Amino acid sequence: MKSTATAPANIALIKYWGKKDTGLRLPANNSLSINLSGISTVTAVEFVDGLIEDRISIDRWVVTGVENKRITAHLDRIRQMAGIHLRAKVESNNNFPKGTGLASSASGFAALTLAASCSAGLSLSEKELSILARLGSGSACRSIPSGFVEWKAGNSNLSSYAYSLFPADYWDIRDVIAIVGSDVKKISSTEGHAAVESSPFYKERIREMPQKIRKIKEAIRGRDFSEFGEIVEAEAMNMHAIMISSRPALIYWTPTTLRVMHQIIDWRLGGLQSYFTIDAGPNVHVLCLAKDALKLEKRLTAIEGVLKVIVNRPSNGATLL
Ligand code: PMV
Repeated sequence: MKSTATAPANIALIKYWGKKDTGLRLPANNSLSINLSGISTVTAVEFVDGLIEDRISIDRWVVTGVENKRITAHLDRIRQMAGIHLRAKVESNNNFPKGTGLASSASGFAALTLAASCSAGLSLSEKELSILARLGSGSACRSIPSGFVEWKAGNSNLSSYAYSLFPADYWDIRDVIAIVGSDVKKISSTEGHAAVESSPFYKERIREMPQKIRKIKEAIRGRDFSEFGEIVEAEAMNMHAIMISSRPALIYWTPTTLRVMHQIIDWRLGGLQSYFTIDAGPNVHVLCLAKDALKLEKRLTAIEGVLKVIVNRPSNGATLL
């Protein structure tokens, strides 16, 4: 049977950076994210007779090497759960450039998990799908549930999964992404996670986490945008401080990234309430209230070096098509 699923990318408000179990992809801390309406993956999976290996394409390119192994390993997990041995045809397409820190592994593994499990005849709950997606790529577990999502770190395979804190329409905010580069990044997030312990500041980051998470949940619940934005921006800087102070140092920012960051701070002083966050890549996500999205989009588009601007609202999670 052929199944097709779509899943959104997500932007982490409180980041997952560092694992306590690499094999199981158990994160060191809980994280929080919003699913994004404008950047997503559509994946079709069909288990068929007569294939001797999985045939996988992403954005119409045949996938080989390490990437192929990682996807095949995920299909193996699903085959094992379903008790089948058939190989699969997988066709996956993103509506945004992959490998640039725009969370293509999150939307990709979430869509793959839903499409492949259905195609294999499994009928999994949201929690089971989130656990399974996590084994493919950590942040993918947050692209399964809808809206504002929390990933509970847990301490075992079955206790580490994401769930919806608030539905997508709980708060009408926007994430306006300034794409400043579309080159595939040199250092993967997998390598980055492995380097955290070499930062002298990492223990302090983890120590502060529970309080930070409590505060951001309160800000979202009360729809307090300035408190929310301040926590989000400070958290992004905190994670990048870990990256920059790791060995090897990971510097994901480009001159354009910095230009956008400075502009956001200047505009805020001038009354435009917006806050930035940045994942493991050079692109800048700018959070604002719905009423300011158009103004922000125009201003970001005019910045030298910004290639494209994508406006997102909070969206639902992974869905079968
Ligand atoms: O799931 P991964 O291994 O691609 O790690 C994601 C890491 C960040 O995007 C930087 C943070 C996050 O929580 O999404």
